[in-house]
Amino acid sequence: MTHPPRKIIIDTDPGQDDAVAILLALASPEDLEVLGICAVAGNVPLPLTERNTRIVCELAGKPDVRVFAGCDRPLERPLVTAEHVHGKTGLDGPQLADPTMPLQDQHAVDFIIETLRREPAHTVTLCPLGPLTNIATAMQRAPDIIPRIGQIVLMGGAYFEVGNITPAAEFNIYVDPHAADIVFKSGVSLVVLPLDVTHKALTNRARIEAFRALGTEPGRMVAEWTDFFERFDMAKYGSEGAPLHDPCVIAYLIDPSLFEGRHINVEIEVQSELTMGMTVADWWGVTDRPANALFIGGIDADRFFALLTDRIGRL
Ligand code: BDR
Ligand code: CA
Repeated sequence: MTHPPRKIIIDTDPGQDDAVAILLALASPEDLEVLGICAVAGNVPLPLTERNTRIVCELAGKPDVRVFAGCDRPLERPLVTAEHVHGKTGLDGPQLADPTMPLQDQHAVDFIIETLRREPAHTVTLCPLGPLTNIATAMQRAPDIIPRIGQIVLMGGAYFEVGNITPAAEFNIYVDPHAADIVFKSGVSLVVLPLDVTHKALTNRARIEAFRALGTEPGRMVAEWTDFFERFDMAKYGSEGAPLHDPCVIAYLIDPSLFEGRHINVEIEVQSELTMGMTVADWWGVTDRPANALFIGGIDADRFFALLTDRIGRL
């Protein structure tokens, strides 16, 4: 039986891996209907993340996708960015032309609220690929939307891999831990793709060359982005390539059988400066705190890259 495509809102801070995630979603209309894409400050400041989002939509040949700019800073803390990973523009690597498609006038938070109020309850999935500022702000401003959200499938956090921006915390959660705390306590069904799984979704020479061999502009861009992006993780972890963090979210929506995880309790550290933004994940069930998230730990990386290459090849 075929299902109608799942309605999603992508919330993002591109970022080369965010860009690949957006391409994967826009290449998959039979699975996903992208209602809009919200930009948030994260890897780079908001003026760059909204610009980069529009560049990626144009690259996908989808200039009609609605792109909204959201929050330009975390709820309580100063913005921390990651130019050391993604480069000055956030999409360093290939030469990219300025986008010509428009940015929507509406604020991303208003778009999220309006969409969740308009669409039937439980039919819209939120897909955060960056700090959770836009999502938490929408929840704070309009608590009536919380029970209407179908699911939140997000990239963030870590348990076994611990931190990538501090020894204890993963970047997306660290940048806005207070927003993450609101989302993890919201009671909404959560699927979390942490570093534990994204560090298993690694590029290598063959996987990058498969993108290049598509012979298309999007294929070449993905190859050049991952070429750029992988130098950082290879130097840091001694790994074979770069983790494609954010595409794991979209791949999970398309084919959850690629992944495995556990329903567990996950809480966010917001008190201690030393461990700020840590995702305290009860993987081993040592507390009786109720499960609030499906925390993913495993991936079939070969099938993941096969899906990614096949779908990007359609664009
Ligand atoms: C996350 O941080 C960003 O640098 C990536 O885009 C990803 O969303 C990984 O920690
Ligand atoms: Ca991201």
